[in-house]
Amino acid sequence: MFNDKEVTVIFVLGGPGAGKGTQCEKLVADFNFCHLSAGDLLRAEQQREGSKEGELIRNYIKEGKIVPSYVTLKLLENAMNESINVNKNSRFLIDGFPRQMDQAEAFDAQVCNSKFALFLDCPEKTMEDRLAIRSKTSGREDDNIESIRKRFKTFIQTSMPVIEYYKSLGKCIQVDCTPAIDEVYQTIKAIVHEKIV
Ligand code: C5P
Ligand code: MG
Repeated sequence: MFNDKEVTVIFVLGGPGAGKGTQCEKLVADFNFCHLSAGDLLRAEQQREGSKEGELIRNYIKEGKIVPSYVTLKLLENAMNESINVNKNSRFLIDGFPRQMDQAEAFDAQVCNSKFALFLDCPEKTMEDRLAIRSKTSGREDDNIESIRKRFKTFIQTSMPVIEYYKSLGKCIQVDCTPAIDEVYQTIKAIVHEKIV
């Protein structure tokens, strides 16, 4: 368990294609954050030779379902330890996690009490348009219309309750992500600046 006086965690949440990765990259350029994308960590583990969970991860991702929490939690914890011990960076943007209530509870109780959650709110149509563009170059097995529909459904059914949970704790900051990337970023940058610096 990390001490939340020494370790800062901001969750970046939102549906597929809302712009989580894009906005996190911009925050990394302006603030000293370690950006950990749960989806990226899962894809890397899926590719890792000798991984016991590779096949399981592949199936869940293709179906747009949430990989069992113990897998993702362990990957995040390992990456956090490496950042803290090797890179001496203990400020985290955790992107695409928690996506399911048990993940939120386990993280807050076992890993670290998060500072707040940034919810990138975006209409489904806009997310679908963005994913259609991304699918041309992403090489992701789940950037096809069938998987995308499943991911939208999982987002509404399984991940929105997490966002509602952080709202009920007064720990959720919602940002409208319909505008252009840089306009959205100015809003996000001001929020993070006020909360962190
Ligand atoms: O966030 P991203 O779109 O990269 O996530 C891709 C997929 O990875 C999700 O659709 C889901 O199958 C899996 N994932 C997960 N649990 C998380 C984050 C991602 O199972 N916390
Ligand atoms: Mg992403």
